[in-house]
Amino acid sequence: MNILVIGSGGREHALVWKIAQSPLVSKIFCAPGNPGIGQLAENVALKVDDLDGLLAFARAEAIDLTVVGPELPLSLGIVDRFEAAGLTIFGARQNAAIIEASKAFSKDLMKKYHVPTAFYEVFTEVEPALAFIAKHGAPIVVKADGLAAGKGVIVARTVAEANEAVRDMLSGGAFGSAGARVVIEEFLEGEEASFLAFTDGKTIIPLASAQDHKPVFDDDQGPNTGGMGAYSPAPVVTPAVHEKAMVEVMRRAVDGMAAEGRPYRGVLYAGLMIKDGEVKTLEFNARFGDPECQPLLMRLKSDLVPVLLACARGDLSGVELEWYDQAAVCVVMASGGYPGDFTKGFPIEGLDTAAAIDDLVVFHAGTVEKDGRIVNSGGRVLGVTGRGPTVAAAIAKAYQGVHAIAWEKVHFRSDIGSKALRSS
Ligand code: AMP
Ligand code: GLY
Repeated sequence: MNILVIGSGGREHALVWKIAQSPLVSKIFCAPGNPGIGQLAENVALKVDDLDGLLAFARAEAIDLTVVGPELPLSLGIVDRFEAAGLTIFGARQNAAIIEASKAFSKDLMKKYHVPTAFYEVFTEVEPALAFIAKHGAPIVVKADGLAAGKGVIVARTVAEANEAVRDMLSGGAFGSAGARVVIEEFLEGEEASFLAFTDGKTIIPLASAQDHKPVFDDDQGPNTGGMGAYSPAPVVTPAVHEKAMVEVMRRAVDGMAAEGRPYRGVLYAGLMIKDGEVKTLEFNARFGDPECQPLLMRLKSDLVPVLLACARGDLSGVELEWYDQAAVCVVMASGGYPGDFTKGFPIEGLDTAAAIDDLVVFHAGTVEKDGRIVNSGGRVLGVTGRGPTVAAAIAKAYQGVHAIAWEKVHFRSDIGSKALRSS
């Protein structure tokens, strides 16, 4: 089979790495890819939102299966376009990808179908939003409705901070049209987990549990990022929590989407907040988490390709996933300054040393090749992912890789996975 993966981050490198192990696959393309992906697949210079270009390419190269990584092409309707052209593609259709593309839609869905979540209201005008904040007090959470690369959520510790976030979004143009509508919701305490499942709209097949680390600094300090590291399994997802997440979150969401005439097919990601065994949903995403995908795919024993194909064809019944018992930990190495401004173009040292370490994979995210060298080009640059018999061993393995790699102003968290050690 010829496979096309769309995207250029660590998530897509992990997808390509896993797909490349399938005996069903003869050739992999990745658009636009990155230098790490280029060692396993042919990179194609097409942007993820160039739907016409991607469709023409898939036709010309007789692509048997296209796998969409990021949310943007899903929300632009890439799956609908490919399906209309008779092509097989893994991902949510446009009218289902709205579960991520609009937080107001997603919250209304949760309310209507009794998916446990924080109480909230949706606002387009400043004054009523400020009144809601004044009534409920802080801490309180202000979210831009639309896609904002993981940065549109302000967890406000004070009323003043919440008011400022509302004004920035509704009248200051922060996040553009994504911020023209806001969700304001109750602040939830607890421990977060990422709960992902494949679904064809009826059958739901959960992936192993995972946990992300969103804040940029150790001990969850500093602003939120797209994710500074992740591990799997996550002990906070006990068997009882897993059951609740399946019954109260996944089943209700998938059935709710079907009832709304928006059947959900693809991978559904629920961001959960867990406290005293109770599960609440923070958000849904219409794609694999990044960096959660990296440790998850390092733990997946089953061939991924038949699963993606079955999902794309709309029938997951009979599909089972097998996992390695080992744990996996991904530490993100970022450009110093991220999620704010950072300098690009510093040469990255030590990639070959890290590549020689067993049970370790260095997934590329924000890298490019310049004058024959790999340099940093994005906020999140590498996802150094180790595997081991325990979470502690996987942490040690991942940091062995991290310490082999360096560039100017590199930043990474030194506590990825430590929550799993505390709670196990
Ligand atoms: P979201 O994109 O909605 O998942 O929000 C990004 C991050 O903001 C989450 O991973 C949480 O860390 C935090 N967050 C979002 N909603 C809430 C909430 N209601 N209470 C506390 N923290 C939240
Ligand atoms: N790591 C969080 C996300 O992918 O949304």
